[in-house]
This record gives sequence, C-alpha cells and structure tokens, in this order.
Amino acid sequence: MSIRNLDDLLADGVSGRRVLVRADLNVPLGKQTGQIADDGRIRAVLPTLSALVQAGAKVVVCSHLGRPKGAPDPQFSLRPVAGRLGELLGAPVHFAEDTVGESARSTVEGLADGQVALLENLRFNKGETSKDDAERGAFADQLAALGDAYVDDAFGAVHRKHASVFDVPARLPHVAGRLVLREVEVLSKLTGEPERPYVVVLGGSKVSDKLAVIEALLPKVDRLLIGGGMCFTFLKAQGHEVGSSLLEEEMVETCGNLLERSEGKIMLPVDVVAATAFSPDADHDVFRADGIPSHRVGLDIGPETVAGFAAAIKDAACGEPGGARTIFWNGPMGVFEMPAFANGTRGVAEAIAKADAFTVVGGGDSAAAVRALGLDESSFSHISTGGGASLEYLEGKTLPGIAALED
Ligand code: 3PG
Ligand code: MG
Repeated sequence: MSIRNLDDLLADGVSGRRVLVRADLNVPLGKQTGQIADDGRIRAVLPTLSALVQAGAKVVVCSHLGRPKGAPDPQFSLRPVAGRLGELLGAPVHFAEDTVGESARSTVEGLADGQVALLENLRFNKGETSKDDAERGAFADQLAALGDAYVDDAFGAVHRKHASVFDVPARLPHVAGRLVLREVEVLSKLTGEPERPYVVVLGGSKVSDKLAVIEALLPKVDRLLIGGGMCFTFLKAQGHEVGSSLLEEEMVETCGNLLERSEGKIMLPVDVVAATAFSPDADHDVFRADGIPSHRVGLDIGPETVAGFAAAIKDAACGEPGGARTIFWNGPMGVFEMPAFANGTRGVAEAIAKADAFTVVGGGDSAAAVRALGLDESSFSHISTGGGASLEYLEGKTLPGIAALED
C-alpha cells in the first residue's frame, strides 16, 4: 500500500494551483446559540492548510456539517466555521454560498495565491451521500472541477463512502493531509501489537454502534470497561431492570452473548447516577446497578464504578503490576454536558490522563469532553478527531477514504 502525503504534493509545487482540501469541520454547535461549542476539529486541520497557504496554493476547503438531507438547510451552514477558521489562520476565509454552483466557482476563481476559500456544506447536495454511484460521481465531477489536486484531511469522515471522500480522489491527483497521516500512524499502533496490558474504555449512547468494535477488540484487550448510555443494555442482559434509561431492547441478547464469551474481561458499572428526568437540574441519586427504580433514568456512572474503572486502568486489574500500558477510550461515561452528570467522564478521563501508558482518545464527543472538562489535552498521547472512523479502523475494516488514496 502506498499513499502519497502532503509533503509529496508540496514537493511537486503547488504555487498558483487550486488545491481542494476535504476537511472534517463537523464541529458541535451550541443547541441554543448555534455557536461553535468546540473548535478542535478546525484546529486539527490547520497544519495542512497553513502549509498550503505558505506554499502559495489557492486553497479550496470543503466539509460536511451535521446531517442535512441533501438540500440547503440554514442551521447547518458552514458560514460560522469560515469565520472561526479565518481567525485561527489569521487571514480571512472567503465563503462560498453554495458547494459547486455559481458562488463556489466565482469564489474559487477570485482566489489569489495563498488565499483560502470554504465551500458551503457538502451535504446540501444529494450527490454527496448518495448510494448511487452515478449520482455520487456526477457531484464528484463538479467538485473536482474546483481543484487541480486533492488533499484528504478529513479523518473523521474516511469511513464514509461519500463523493468528497471516495469519488473525488479518483478524479484528481490525491494525497493524505497531515492529520490523516498522523491519525493512521497512531491508530495502526493499536491494531498491531499494542503493549499490554491493553485497556479499552467504551461509552456513548448506542450499543449497536459499538458491537462490531467490541467483537474485534475482545480477543486483543485485557480489560474492556463499559459506561455511558450503552451500559444499560448490558445491565439488562445481566438481568437488571434499568428504569427509563437508554435501552436497545433488540440488542439485549447479543450483549448477553458477548458477556458470556468475554472471559470476564468486560467490566460494567456497579452503581449509576439516575435522575427523575433527562434534564440538567433534575433530582438525582446514586443507585446500585441492580436497583435502578423504574421511573429513573441513568445519566452517569456512579462513584464506586469510577473508582473501580480508575483502579482497572491503574492496575489493569490483570494481576500484573504497573497498570495499563495501552489505553483506548471512546465515548463519554455519562451526559457530561450537564455538570451534575459529568463526574463519570471526568473521573475516567483523569485516570487515563494520569496513566503511564500510550493513551488514545477517540471520537468527537470524547475529545470535546476532554476540552469541555478543562483537562490538559497534552496529558493524552493522541486525541483522535474521528469517532466512527477510529472505531471502524480498529475493527480492521477497509475505510473508503483511505482506500481511495492508495495508488
Ligand atoms: C462525525 O462527526 O462522526 C464525522 O464528522 C462523520 O459524520 P457522520 O457520522 O454524520 O457521517
Ligand atoms: Mg458520527
């Protein structure tokens, strides 16, 4: 497998050339304010963009934001992202009101060497996510016409077989950007022979999203700690009632099978914080995991669980002294956006940060949690910008966006 990277493109010379950069600027927006709640994904693409600017390229950035349904939808406009990107680059970013239409064409045409444009949301166009190769291809043709070369730096989207990720590189000279390169370098250490003990911490809401990765990881890990909304389907599989907590009923049996086959590697919460409602100021108490009242909703792991998870990280609970040597964490332990339910995520994140190990945080939400909770990002070995992408990478799947960069 050979993938050319940004340095190869820079060596070819990009001055005066239009370079189309696929970025993942899918940042969380505040529910009320519509403002950018965490700009980590914008920062992550700066090394690639700055290098191109310095080399005198005409930089045309494209991205998706959220999941609009193939037509313009103002709440998913990338305009605020253009503003923030400009601040971070220290130069204005020209914003195109559409993705491949009149505005995009004239914006790109008007770029001077070393200037940057951002196109409007890729997913305002049906062709971007279409399952129909011809429809996707037609959109890719229009997009590719806006560049002379293509850089994929959208690690968070490489698991999507979308036009901007999969079809455009077939139409232009293509390379991996700095972020994609770094992400693949780090994650490949986890799929190879990670130093053991190897502890994986999984959270987030949907167990169905995580089943494949659990299957793939179980044989490799020493411990698999499960919190977040997904833990309740496992607790149910253990025979516990979970009140009105998140539950994927149709997954209960599968979770039960996984528990049976896990050789005791899976650790589940022993206590949870359960509230009277899904709301920041709802009454809440700690309950045993086997004693969640029927009208309560579990919104965080409890203190005893946090201590147990932290101990498992510190000692790896594997009978080996010295604790975990490799840790991968994906998904918050509770509804960390609400301070009352942030302790689980904070406690686990702190334990991982303190560990003397190779530590990788995967996923937009976990990365945003690290920053929102004011933890020092540099106390982790790597914070991935990809959630689904990093999980699928660890599953050993072929990622369309990476495959498309191979020569
Ligand atoms: C993400 O946030 O996971 C990536 O930006 C991909 O977005 P998607 O899950 O909507 O394809
Ligand atoms: Mg996602």
